[in-house]
Amino acid sequence: NSKDIIVNPGKVVSALKPEMWGVFFEDINMGADGGIYAELIKNRSFEFYKPLMGWSPKGAQLKEGDLLVLNRKEKDSNNPRFLHVKSRGSSKGDLNISNEGFKGIGVKKGLTYDFSVYYRQAAAGVKLHAELVDSTGKVLGSAVLIPERADNQWALQSVTFTACETVQKAKFTLWFEGTGEIDLDIISLFPGDTWKKRKGGLRGDMVQMLADMKPGFIRFPGGCIVEGYDLSTRYQWKKTIGPVENRKLIVNRWNTEFAHRPAPDYYQTFGLGFFEYFQLAEDIGAEALPILNCGMACQFNSAELVPLDELEPYIQDALDLVEFANGDVKTPWGKVRAEMGHPAPFNLKMMGVGNENWGPQYLERLALFTKAMKSRYPEIKLINSSGTDPEGERFDLLNTSLRKMKADIIDEHYYRAPDWFLNNATRYDSYDRKGSKVFAGEYAAQSVGTTKPTNKNNWQCAIAEAAFMTGLERNAEVVNMASYAPLFAQAEGWQWTPDMIWVDNLHVYGTPNYYVQKLYSLNKGTDVVSIEADHRVIAGEDGIYASAVTDSKTGELIVKLINTSAAAVTRNVVIEGGKKPGAKGKLTVLQNANLDAVNSFSNAINLSPKEQVLKVKGNSISLAMQPYSFNIIRVP
Ligand code: AHR
Repeated sequence: NSKDIIVNPGKVVSALKPEMWGVFFEDINMGADGGIYAELIKNRSFEFYKPLMGWSPKGAQLKEGDLLVLNRKEKDSNNPRFLHVKSRGSSKGDLNISNEGFKGIGVKKGLTYDFSVYYRQAAAGVKLHAELVDSTGKVLGSAVLIPERADNQWALQSVTFTACETVQKAKFTLWFEGTGEIDLDIISLFPGDTWKKRKGGLRGDMVQMLADMKPGFIRFPGGCIVEGYDLSTRYQWKKTIGPVENRKLIVNRWNTEFAHRPAPDYYQTFGLGFFEYFQLAEDIGAEALPILNCGMACQFNSAELVPLDELEPYIQDALDLVEFANGDVKTPWGKVRAEMGHPAPFNLKMMGVGNENWGPQYLERLALFTKAMKSRYPEIKLINSSGTDPEGERFDLLNTSLRKMKADIIDEHYYRAPDWFLNNATRYDSYDRKGSKVFAGEYAAQSVGTTKPTNKNNWQCAIAEAAFMTGLERNAEVVNMASYAPLFAQAEGWQWTPDMIWVDNLHVYGTPNYYVQKLYSLNKGTDVVSIEADHRVIAGEDGIYASAVTDSKTGELIVKLINTSAAAVTRNVVIEGGKKPGAKGKLTVLQNANLDAVNSFSNAINLSPKEQVLKVKGNSISLAMQPYSFNIIRVP
């Protein structure tokens, strides 16, 4: 039958790299601060645009000057501001300062909370009462911290308490008891359920979602964050490592352009910095893929450019990053890594130079980076940008030049309509097998249009991505890596849609797009094998898309079949060549008859994979594919 799907596990097309399916992390949509970085206090060190953003001083005895933000920028330019408190024998209600958190503070019953603060006092006298409070004023958990040192030196102290109730939007209040003056800084509150229970760590439930995907790599820190709104707000990794209290925050690039707020309150505090990114990658078994600024600001291209003869510090940052990640502990940057608690190397293998940069300006700068990096660290694969547009003259010109420069890997981005994804499942069939490799570094189907607020993470978008990804998998010889973007969005604080994982203060859910990505990653295999119908690739005829891999570790054949049509379709999947298949396999199905279907906080697994046993008759499987379904067959 010409419609039969013929899979030949003996006919290997190419190997598929372990890092093939990865994740793209950027601090957009409150992905880091207010998101995966578990700090619950907003503007903890009073460094935001307005010093008391996020804070409300109150109290029956509050007089002007009792709660004062002071500046010591001559002594500490990274963390200049602190809070000076003058307390006069106050009791509860007399003098306090509350923090609103990032869209409120999520509190969980029975969970511990670590309150910590840097303080300085000349004499003991003021006790600090830390409380989590609900909207009615009810205290959900509290602790008293009695500052121990009284020698006018800054000191860190902490105390832990347990919450008695679950509340979605609580606030944090610090009230002062006793008479005296005290300086406070980095007023911090972390939940006790951070990832791996690390103090000052990452939100456990969000990291778990990533770990569950077993991603091959994690790209960080972005995205446009890398470039900055202008070069002054570009990402500089050296400013994001070392003691957290010394990391100077900057306004988040996503604050400005999309929110148009005159007073920015979306910052990168860098509590999640490059050390933590490498650690996260290691924790979840992913390769680290840092992207560095190449001397160009975000999409302004020629407007914000570092002159070529001033590019050296940017290149040095890239070289030093390799030493930070991989260098022996005796090297200067290897020593910094060791001092941060990781003497063993992180085994960095690749790095991106520039994000969505293009034009001759990019090529000139890239050439200098490449020369320096290849002569010092030839083993590091470099990822080059191909701009923002996967088609058109600009893309062609750049792509041709990058290929002439023998780019290791070229990063292509596409935010397009679902149809574009369906039509582009064959995009890479004609790419040169021998030249530069491709990294599909950012992509997502847009239900309405790029960055439109009404975009949905609906099944129409997710199934189009699943269909498109058969084309990435079939062409793994060319497309070495791929990642959906953006990754996280806070339901009350996003700038970009759609996004793969949505969170609020207490919950997290994966979109249908998340499950598509996860299914590819968990069913990655090791070798791409031949799959055809009537001697042709299966990429859209009757709405069917297909790709197949074998897994040399488990000895299985894995076939992905997507039915993008509204009709049920039955096909014979015939296994030819290779060894005789087992009599029983497994079928995993992600399906919904409604293309508008979505997941949500209240119905987080409306669309999620279902598994069933699959019968193999001889070498053939009769597969009834439901309308709009993503089917994965695993056969021993
Ligand atoms: O993923 C959101 C943004 O889209 C990224 O920051 C940028 O690289 C792209 O334009």
